[in-house]
This record gives sequence, structure tokens and C-alpha cells, in this order.
Amino acid sequence: MNPCSQIAEKLVAPGKGILAADESIGTMNSRLDKAGVPGTAENRQVYRELLAATPGLADGASGIIFCDETLNQTFADGTPFARAVLALGILPGIKVDTGARPCPGLPGETITEGLDGLPARLSGYADLGAAFAKWRAVYTITPQLPSPGAIRANAHALARYAAACQEAGIVPIVEPEVLMDGDHGLDRCAEVTTAVHAAVREELALLNVDLAGIVLKPNMVIEGSGNPETSTPEEVAAATVAVLRAWPDQLAGVAFLSGGQPPERATANLEAMQHHRTSWPLSFSFGRALVDPALAAWHGDADLVAAGQAALADRVAANAAAVRLRSQL
Ligand code: 13P
Repeated sequence: MNPCSQIAEKLVAPGKGILAADESIGTMNSRLDKAGVPGTAENRQVYRELLAATPGLADGASGIIFCDETLNQTFADGTPFARAVLALGILPGIKVDTGARPCPGLPGETITEGLDGLPARLSGYADLGAAFAKWRAVYTITPQLPSPGAIRANAHALARYAAACQEAGIVPIVEPEVLMDGDHGLDRCAEVTTAVHAAVREELALLNVDLAGIVLKPNMVIEGSGNPETSTPEEVAAATVAVLRAWPDQLAGVAFLSGGQPPERATANLEAMQHHRTSWPLSFSFGRALVDPALAAWHGDADLVAAGQAALADRVAANAAAVRLRSQL
């Protein structure tokens, strides 16, 4: 087994998932701001250390994704973040894309950037201890979009990134995110997600990416956030698994993003997925659905660090329990 597939297997190990704590500085600052916490490098460090040092986190979290700033910061005791979480039994990961920008030629659509110089950056991140990486492509649903051009360009970039990661011995998390924004129904999300995944599979194959050494991080197939109807967990799970069935058995695993779903809904949907027999594990790589309650509970108060950690531990435990169901059914 090659080293990437061993690490990928660990990331989606039974009963575990990934904590996405890799918000860009801008996004992190606006989330801190909403919680009443000034967006400074120091506060971003304190918050990320609160999350990463949560007692018992390794029981349900196989990995944590950080952004470049955090990977270059240290815990209060001076230990670099990557080393600190490794010592806690958690694999450190790094977001390596540099963000989704307007795509020339495709009004209203984005292309995710960050390929220039990527191999050199990956080797630097490997030196810092990163075991895996993440790249997020973003697709918006409207009656006309995403366009074939946006689907193709973003799939190509994801594949270029994934191939570079595997050459550097770093597991790529491949994240094609079809956004929940809009009032579309679940069927339209299924149609778009199917087209996006087909292009991603084609581009990965063209660049000889080993599917046993990647983790796919897709959106769940769900109605748009502006749609008044709420699909049941059983409907979301059935539609999502139906789209995912096009992926070959070799794929190491699937770890969903939460995409702005309320935390409890994301967990209920994840749990419903486990009732479907699939050849790859169906796990989580949630951001907001894990950290929002923690940020709200802490809100910058040094006396409430333990409360913030307890809120994170609760969400991780609930999602780990959902994933663990797979082996019990
Ligand atoms: P959400 O779970 O908040 O969608 O974030 C996951 C993520 O990593 C987005 O890139």
C-alpha cells in the first residue's frame, strides 16, 4: 500500500472524521467579529488552539485542517500547531488553494487559484508536518449555472492539485462544493453534483491520480437554502449516495462538508447515510457544523475556553457516533 493510501485510510477510519478549521484570515475575522471577538492574529491563534487542544478530540477526529497562518503559528507553550496535534494523535492538514476568484470568460462563476508554485509549497508544508491537504472548488446553482466551462476548469485544477499532492506524499482532500445558495430543489442539486463529479473523475484519471490515496469531500445532495421545503435525512442520504455510486471502489473514502446546514441537521443526514451499503466509508469533514457552537460558547472570554471546548467535543462526539453506526448495522 502506498503511503498516501495509508494516510487516507486513517483520515476516514471507522468512527472518525475531520475537523475543518482552515478559514482564510478574512473569513475567520468576519466570524470572530460576529462573535464579538476582534480579528487579530493573536485571537485567531487562541481560537485555533482552543479547538485543537479540546480534551478527547482525537477520539472522534482523525485530522484537523489548518490554513497557512495557523500552520506557521505555535501553541501558547511554543510547540508548532502541526507538531502539537500530531502529539495528540491527530493528523495535521493544510488548505493549499488560495481562494475562488472570478473566472475570466465566465461571468458570475469562479475558478479556484493556487496552482502556481504548488509543488514547492507542498514540500514546505510537508517539512512542517502536514500529512494531508485540501483544495476547494466552488459551484453556484442557478437555472443556467454552473456552466460546462466552470465545471471543466475547476475539475482540471482539482486534478492538478491532487496529482501534485500525491507526488509530495501528501493526501489530497478533493473538495468540489456545489453551494446550497438558491431556491433550487434536491433534484437540481443531484443533477449538478453528478455533472461536477463526472468531470472531476475524468480529470483525476487523466493525471493518474490514485483514488486509493485521496479523500473526496463533497456537498451532500440537498435542497437550496432558499427553498422552503426541507428534505428528510432519508431523502438527502438516498439522493447523495445515488450520486456517489459512480465513484469506483478504490476511492479511500468520502468526508462531507456541512455547507451551512445547522449542526444537528448535518449530523442527522450523516447518520442516515450510514444505512446505505457503500464500498467506501461516509464520514465528515465539517467546518461550521462543528465549530459554530464552540465559537458561540467561548466568544473570546478566557474564562469560557472549557465551555467552547465542551461544545466542540459534543458535536464531534455526535458525528463520530453517527459514523460509527456503519460498523454496527
Ligand atoms: P463547512 O463544513 O462549514 O461547509 O466547511 C467545510 C470546509 O472545509 C469548506 O471548505
